[in-house]
This record gives sequence, structure tokens and C-alpha cells, in this order.
Amino acid sequence: MMHQTHYISEPISASKSLSILLVVVGLFSSLLVAGSTIAAELPQNDQEIHLGVASCASGVCHGSVRPKSGSAVLQNEYVTWSRHDRHRIAYQTLLTPESARIATNLGLKNAHEASLCLDCHADNVAVEQQGEKFLLSDGVGCEACHGGAGDYISEHADAATDRQHNIDAGLYPADQAADRAKLCLSCHLGTADKFASHDIMGAGHPRLAFELDTFGILQPAHYLVDEDYRAEKWYGDSLVTWVIGQTRSTEQTLSLIETRLDSGGLFPELALFDCHTCHHPMSEPRWLANRTGLPPGSVRLNDANFVMLFALAQVAAPSLEMTLREQMTALHQAVARRQPLADLLASIRQNIAIIERDAVSQAGPTMPLRLLRAIAVAGSEDQFADYVAAEQATMAIDMLLNAASLRDEYRTWLDRLYADVSDEDAYNPDELLATMVEFNRLLSVR
Ligand code: HEC
Ligand code: HEC
Ligand code: HEC
Ligand code: HEC
Repeated sequence: MMHQTHYISEPISASKSLSILLVVVGLFSSLLVAGSTIAAELPQNDQEIHLGVASCASGVCHGSVRPKSGSAVLQNEYVTWSRHDRHRIAYQTLLTPESARIATNLGLKNAHEASLCLDCHADNVAVEQQGEKFLLSDGVGCEACHGGAGDYISEHADAATDRQHNIDAGLYPADQAADRAKLCLSCHLGTADKFASHDIMGAGHPRLAFELDTFGILQPAHYLVDEDYRAEKWYGDSLVTWVIGQTRSTEQTLSLIETRLDSGGLFPELALFDCHTCHHPMSEPRWLANRTGLPPGSVRLNDANFVMLFALAQVAAPSLEMTLREQMTALHQAVARRQPLADLLASIRQNIAIIERDAVSQAGPTMPLRLLRAIAVAGSEDQFADYVAAEQATMAIDMLLNAASLRDEYRTWLDRLYADVSDEDAYNPDELLATMVEFNRLLSVR
């Protein structure tokens, strides 16, 4: 079963109006890319007591029905989450016939008691860390993202308490784009500890796809980036969020290759590879040997994020683009030949860190159009023939057109792009290629 992700069919105007909430134009003087702060422990691994959503939900705290004026936060976070956010139903999903089928296929008693599933579909902390009002059935609740509140609940609403104090008391710094990426990716891509492996996929789990900025916009907004938010927290616009999302996803993919490639069985962990290299009709061979440098018939790594990184390198750190391309080809080959990866991964990581640093420091009004041009050229050279690459390109282009204030002008073309990727099973790389050639033409005459 190949699952169609929802954002692809999301009407453009809906996501656009939401994005306005989050798009903050300005300088990134307050920018703190992770690396400059000590990496925070993920909420699922913290040592705090997780009090449960009910502890956050009272009417005077985060459970107001309407946003409150005169408050530093909206205070209706609970209502937004409980009525509109899919994280609210993540546990309920484990009770559906679809999950029962997955569980049966995996030989589990059921899905809703299996750590394998709860680790991503709930705030699955140890029993000793569960407070009185804690309920697993709350799914991905407040503390699954904001950290166990046992130590910060009493003081965090006090205006005199500074942010660092809260963070020291267990509040997860979800505002920092790099920490946020780490948080979201822990469930939306996987870690060494929890991963939607090919066993789970084969049992019927949908394929996972993620992009930090797009998914941040799709998650119903329960916070506003306003004056006092900016005074206290890190904030960046969609472009910077996307950049950090791309670099951190790649980094996380490399870690998964490092820790999860050896499945202990006859085959490596297949979920690290592009699903469609194996799962496609035999009547449509897809020759992508040149890009990866692998012989025909090879299984390719899922390199969706790598492809966007090439465009980013071209624009922000041009001297690294070729090196990065060569390194990625070497990675495809080393994985295929089961060669040692440690040195190669280390030097790729170094280059990604440079690209991130340079891209973030150069991010500004001209960058979206320059990135769009780089992506258009890559697409018109057939570099997005794999569905996962086309999917990442679509999310990037949508964000960049918006950032360059070109979305209305390119609306007809953008609808065509969305149509090309709307159905994963009917995806036709030739149609996408024609769409990208047209895009490149449109951009080259402006
Ligand atoms: C503890 C695991 C976990 C974390 C952390 C997490 N998510 Fe999720 N997310 C899920 C699960 C599970 C679902 C699917 C819920 C369902 O439908 O049952 C989901 C669904 C979503 C959806 C809806 C997707 C769709 O297809 O409609 C969006 C958007 C989303 N997450 C964004 C985010 C963002 C942004 C972050 C980081 C700020 C994040 N998530 C952090 C587990 C997590
Ligand atoms: C690595 C984290 C992870 C693990 C492990 C995991 N899931 Fe999920 N699951 C997700 C995310 C994230 C989504 C949402 C995908 C999206 O819409 O983008 C999801 C979606 C689903 C969906 C589709 C929900 C919908 O509304 O369409 C089902 C069903 C599901 N998971 C069941 C399970 C079961 C059963 C298990 C255990 C065998 C499991 N999951 C393990 C992260 C995970
Ligand atoms: C899937 C992850 C996720 C879940 C679940 C979640 N949040 Fe958030 N929340 C975020 C992110 C990301 C931000 C923006 C970054 C930040 O301010 O930390 C945020 C911001 C906030 C803010 C800050 C607003 C401001 O102006 O400073 C509050 C308050 C908040 N969330 C409360 C809640 C409450 C209460 C719940 C549960 C009902 C909840 N959140 C559930 C991810 C999540
Ligand atoms: C190296 C090749 C390969 C890759 C890559 C691969 N698979 Fe598979 N997959 C297989 C094989 C072989 C089977 C078992 C035969 C079958 O059921 O079709 C299978 C079975 C499945 C099944 C069960 C099909 C059924 O009819 O019961 C699903 C669903 C699935 N894979 C999804 C995925 C997803 C999602 C990905 C990407 C994350 C992926 N696969 C990546 C080779 C692959």
C-alpha cells in the first residue's frame, strides 16, 4: 500500500493563508543555529515527570476556547490541539482496523500496547515518569514536544521566569529550528531507537515523508510569532526553516544509514532505500544509473534530501557542490558494495555543516529566486525522476515561490506540479520532467 500524503493534495490557498502566520520577514540577528547551544535531550528521553495533557488544559492556562488578548501566549493551545491537530489522534489510530492489520502482520498482540507503535504514536515515557493525570491515550500530547513539565509547570507561566530557567527545568527548546527538526524527525523519519522499518512498512504502514517548514505549516498553529515571541525566542522565516530542515534531515538520514543499515538479515534495511526503486511496474524501467553512478538494476538509497542539498550548495557554498555530488555518489556505491562508511560519512557531515552555516548566514530576499533557478535547472535535467525527490522538490518550490512573492504568478504552473505528484502510484517521471522544463523556461525569461 502506497499512502498518499495529505499536503500534496492540500489546496494551495489553505496552506498559504496559514503560512502567513509564520512567515516573519527580517534579519536573522537573533539566529542561533544548533551547535551553538548544547543539544537538548528529546522529550521522549528526558528524565522529567510527564504530567499529562490535562495538566496543561485548564481554562486559565492553555485551555481557553478563544485566544486571549493581553497574554504572551494564545492560551487556546489545548483547543487547537484537541480539535484540529492529528497528533491528538495518534493513539486512536492504533485502535483502527488498519493498525490491527499491521499488528497482526507483525505478530503483535495489538498495536496500542506495543512500544514499537507507541514510541511514535504517544508520549511513551517510562511508567515511573508518568504523572497522575498522564494518559497514553492522549497520543502525541503537549509534553511529547515540549518536554516533561514536572519541574517547569509551577514557574513557567510566571513572567519573571526567564526562558533558560525553563529549559534547564526540562522545557524542550522547540523554537530553535535545529532542535525542532530533531524533535519532528525523531517520529517523522526515525532514530536509531525507533524506526518505521521495512517490516512495519511491509505490514501496511504508510511511507513517511517530511519537510520541516511545510509540516510546521500543516500542523494547526497553536502559537503566533509576534512581538513577545520574538523578544524571547529564536525565530526564522520559511526559507531558513527549510534550509535547516534539509540539512538536518540529511544528517539524520546519514545517522540511520550508520545505525540501521545492517538489519541482521539477508537484506539490508530496505526502508532506507527509495521504495519505488523496487516497487514499480516492470513495464516502466527507470534508468537513473547516471545520477547515482550505480549500474542498472541497483537499489538506490532514499536520497530525497540530498538532491535539494545540491541546489542549496550551488547557491550558498558553490565550491562545495561538486564535492558533495561526488561524495553522495560514493555513498550510494559504498552502501551498494557494503564498504566501510565511517570516513565518508564524517566528511559529508562536515560539508553539510558548512553548507548550513553559509546558507543561513546568506539567507535574504534574493535567495529564494536563486534557489528556484537552481532547482528548475536540476529538474529540467531529470534529477527528480525518483518520486521522493519530486516530492521534496514540490514542497521546496511551493515554499520558495511564496518567499519570492511569485506564487500567484506561477499558480497555474504550480497546480500542474501538484497534479504530477498527487498520486504516488501513478507518478510519471516524464510528465514531471516536462513540467520542470517548462518551469526552467518560465524562469529563464524573467
Ligand atoms: C512523538 C512523535 C511525534 C513527534 C515528536 C512529532 N510528530 Fe507529527 N505526527 C506523529 C504521528 C504519529 C502522526 C500521525 C497521527 C495520526 O494520523 O494518527 C503525526 C502527524 C503529523 C502531521 C499530519 C500529517 C498528515 O499527513 O496530515 C503533521 C503536519 C505533523 N505531524 C507535523 C509535525 C511537526 C511539525 C513536528 C515537530 C514540531 C512533529 N510533527 C512532531 C508523530 C510525531
Ligand atoms: C518512527 C515512528 C513511527 C513508528 C515506529 C510507527 N509509526 Fe505509524 N505513523 C508515524 C507517522 C509520523 C505517521 C504519519 C505519517 C504522515 O501522515 O505523514 C504515521 C501514520 C500511521 C498510520 C496512518 C494514519 C492515518 O491517519 O493515515 C497508521 C495506521 C499507523 N501509523 C500505525 C502504526 C502502527 C500500527 C505502528 C506499530 C507497528 C506504527 N504506526 C509505528 C510514525 C510512526
Ligand atoms: C507536535 C509537537 C507539538 C505538540 C504536540 C504541541 N506543541 Fe506547542 N509548540 C510546538 C512548536 C514547534 C512550537 C513553536 C516553538 C516554540 O515556541 O517552542 C510550539 C509553541 C507552543 C507555545 C508557545 C507560544 C508562544 O507564543 O511562545 C505554547 C504555549 C505551546 N506550544 C503549548 C502547547 C500545549 C498546551 C500543547 C498541548 C495541548 C502543545 N503545545 C502541543 C510543538 C508542539
Ligand atoms: C530492495 C527492494 C525494496 C525496497 C527498496 C523496498 N521494498 Fe518493500 N518489498 C520488497 C519486497 C521484495 C517485498 C516482498 C514482496 C512483496 O510483497 O511484494 C516488499 C514488500 C512490501 C510491502 C508489502 C506488499 C504486499 O503486497 O504485501 C509493502 C507495503 C512495502 N514493501 C512497502 C515499501 C516501502 C514503503 C518502501 C520504502 C520505504 C519499500 N517497500 C522499499 C522490496 C523492497
